[in-house]
Amino acid sequence: MQNECMIHASPILVIGGSVRARRLCIQIADWVAAVGRDATGARFDIIDLRQWLLPMDDEPGIPAAGQYAHSHTLDWSQKVAGARAIIFVTPQYNWGYPAPLKNAIDHLYSEWGGKPAMIVTYGGHGGAKCGDQLRQVLDGLHMATVPTAPALVLARELIEANTGEIDPASEFAGQLPSMLQAFGELLGKMELD
Ligand SMILES: Cc1cc2nc3c(=O)[nH]c(=O)nc-3n(C[C@H](O)[C@H](O)[C@H](O)COP(=O)(O)O)c2cc1C
Repeated sequence: MQNECMIHASPILVIGGSVRARRLCIQIADWVAAVGRDATGARFDIIDLRQWLLPMDDEPGIPAAGQYAHSHTLDWSQKVAGARAIIFVTPQYNWGYPAPLKNAIDHLYSEWGGKPAMIVTYGGHGGAKCGDQLRQVLDGLHMATVPTAPALVLARELIEANTGEIDPASEFAGQLPSMLQAFGELLGKMELD
């Protein structure tokens, strides 16, 4: 299967949930992609929502109708439609996931349907509460979300220091087994598509 993944042209998108100043998100997303590359041999594409300027709910139509008025939504639609699987890497904000991630999800509809998905959260206790909320939304979009959702625990000192710097490989070394399990499950779902 690894060889099949290596030659598959469509990338796995890793969508970072945070656009915050001094965020940790993209460093964590990069690490998730690196672990995934080693585990699956697939191609990964990091999606930084700061680079995808999707104004809040600006489409006049209902996304489920698939008729988009704005070029940024059409570009987003093509990006997501062209993905082989989606990994959401998101912090927990006040027991939920960040608004820009929900806005990016809600700009589209059918593009998400049927795609293998994986949820990685992080926070002081791992962020499982926001992961549960996100899973419910992905179920509503008919995504094929893998059961294992790594919940990466951020040290209190790291949260309070808020430097915007993290070394995920050492910080989350203890959670590597759960990452590998989730990637194994994702690979299984990709084999079915
Ligand atoms: C608005 C906001 C709400 C937060 N709420 C939570 C929370 O509910 N649970 C938690 O563990 N951490 C919470 N935190 C701390 C975050 O886990 C931490 O700041 C993390 O670095 C945020 O991810 P980011 O740096 O990629 O934006 C919150 C942080 C912010 C900015």
